[in-house]
Amino acid sequence: MSAALRPTSAIPLPDATTSSARPVIEVRDLVKVFGAGRGSGADSAVRAVDGITFSVGAGEFFGFLGPNGSGKTTTMKILTTLLGRTSGSVSVSGLDLDRDPSEIRKKIGYAGQSIGVDGDLTGRENLTLMGHLYHLPGALVRERVQELLEVLQLTDAADRPAYTYSGGMRRRLDLGSGLVHRPPILFLDEPTTGLDPQTRNAVWEYLRRLHRDEGLTVFLTTQYMEEADQLCERLAIIDHGKLVAAGTPAELKAEIGADIVTIRLPQDEQFDARRSRAVDVVKGVAGVEGASVFDQGVTVRAHNGGATLVEILRVLEREKIPVKEVAVSPPTLDQVFLQHTGREMRVEEVKPMNRTGFRRGGRQ
Ligand SMILES: Nc1ncnc2c1ncn2[C@@H]1O[C@H](COP(=O)(O)OP(=O)(O)OP(=O)(O)O)[C@@H](O)[C@H]1O
Ligand SMILES: [Mg+2]
Repeated sequence: MSAALRPTSAIPLPDATTSSARPVIEVRDLVKVFGAGRGSGADSAVRAVDGITFSVGAGEFFGFLGPNGSGKTTTMKILTTLLGRTSGSVSVSGLDLDRDPSEIRKKIGYAGQSIGVDGDLTGRENLTLMGHLYHLPGALVRERVQELLEVLQLTDAADRPAYTYSGGMRRRLDLGSGLVHRPPILFLDEPTTGLDPQTRNAVWEYLRRLHRDEGLTVFLTTQYMEEADQLCERLAIIDHGKLVAAGTPAELKAEIGADIVTIRLPQDEQFDARRSRAVDVVKGVAGVEGASVFDQGVTVRAHNGGATLVEILRVLEREKIPVKEVAVSPPTLDQVFLQHTGREMRVEEVKPMNRTGFRRGGRQ
């Protein structure tokens, strides 16, 4: 990799050479500043994307993770030609974003976070419309629409106007709209946020199948670590507009290099005081690499978690801190995320819908 591709930090960035396939998405030093150049002054400008460099290989399932407001959607909108950038270079499918935006649009599909369905049309009509927009043959459109209605569990509601749908149904229809056209590169912005676990599993299965059988390249943002772990071959974590980690899920977990001891404390009136004391004392135990609080107690990173656990429990007993439950586990992606961003994932609920909540006309 050339020096120009690699920022000066020691963070392992995703890199075309780590993917066996040729890169189909190449992003170099990408910057997006909102609010600059409108006479609003530099103070009010938001540096939503702050110099990121990465690539995605052909046929790869790539995950882009980050807390709320970290720059995921902004990055995705730039890559899908929906939003201009401040600086940096982007190529998609070997095409330059500035020179060939309309050619890029032919090679990609995009299911965004905002609702892009027409409330006056039925679910089936919305999906069919997407197929026609992409000039797919009629028989193929009918086949895909039926398949998607089934996967997204919308068959029963297929012929009702979409404004009668619940928030979750609307979310599923929106996702379906991005999947009718099966482009070589699919961009999905939090495709399963707000879906119930059963539908989420059906969507995972469907995406896996598309990826496997049709060789689709998928670029997916998610706030569900399990989703990233299950689906993605490679991940990048973005925080405050910068990439803070990247690699395969296994590599990222291995980087933590320690077991995770989870200590849950009784939720009584002394919980807060005991939790603060517990996090302080466990940090002094030999073998403990670090400890942090969470809503139910304390998590500890420890070499040889089983042996360290005995000593941790002894120290807590000495401090008269009662323990409700303990568990030792190998690191999960949640811990990877926490370690790199200092935050746990937060998932926002789908907002209740009303008819005026629908966008009319084209997608954004
Ligand atoms: N049009 C805009 N004008 C000004 N600031 C914006 C605009 N769009 C996004 N931002 C800001 O840019 C930052 C990144 O936003 P972005 O939507 O990319 O985050 P995200 O990672 O997708 O978050 P979420 O997980 O909530 O979807 C945030 O601080 C956001 O407020
Ligand atoms: Mg977003």
